[in-house]
Amino acid sequence: MHNNVNELFDNLWQQYLQVTPSAQKIHQLLSQGEAIVNDHIALRTFNLAKVNLEVLAAHFKAVGYEEKGQYDFAAKKLTAKHFEHSDPDQPKVFISELRVEEFSPALQTIITELVEQVDASVTTAANFVYNGAPWQVSQQQYQTLLAESEYAAWTAAWGYRANHFTVHVNKLKGYQDLEAVNDTLKQAGYRLNTSGGEIKGSEEVLLKQSSTMADTAVASFSDGDLDIPSCFYEFAQRYNLPNGQEYTGFVAASADKIFESTNTK
Ligand code: NI
Repeated sequence: MHNNVNELFDNLWQQYLQVTPSAQKIHQLLSQGEAIVNDHIALRTFNLAKVNLEVLAAHFKAVGYEEKGQYDFAAKKLTAKHFEHSDPDQPKVFISELRVEEFSPALQTIITELVEQVDASVTTAANFVYNGAPWQVSQQQYQTLLAESEYAAWTAAWGYRANHFTVHVNKLKGYQDLEAVNDTLKQAGYRLNTSGGEIKGSEEVLLKQSSTMADTAVASFSDGDLDIPSCFYEFAQRYNLPNGQEYTGFVAASADKIFESTNTK
């Protein structure tokens, strides 16, 4: 595992850009040469012991992260936690896991087969969280998973990587609010996720979020390559708690809609 937090995120960012070319262009469009602060990144996994949320979390705990929040997504059958670093300019880390046992025997069989291919020793290697899928999956398996859970299919195809990076809009120079960022993105021709509205959340819940729809990229399957949705870019504006400190948590109702940014339609 890494012991340098910046090295870990540099690797995650480079891996993310390989399948998310729009993120590089949006980064340039919004930054105007200034640094961009990331609000958070998100990773996805399955709740099977060898690769579960805690296995991914260990890579972030090793560079100073601590657990700060827990979330349940009943409809999507997901459990999530978020982690924070003592340096508030380091991105928060949001990790979710699919509750495999709540799905059909067919889905459970496929996911169990994939995870059985993983040698436990690779899950503690420094590159585990940015090395993609540690298993081989076929296009047929992908389609079977997709029919039941978009999340399961995405995670089987793309494995371990940042599913998205998120611009911290409060710390973005030249933009008053999330609405202004969205306007710039739309004028430049980017498609935003409109599930639950372009902006998820509100000042009342202390967090507003928007995101692009995922890029399309070539994924390698055991029986050939296929173009499928890859990763997306997110934008978050946060508000202060009554004590004057910025709210650092997540809003489950909003995150539920953000998950749909990798939908095929
Ligand atoms: Ni997010």
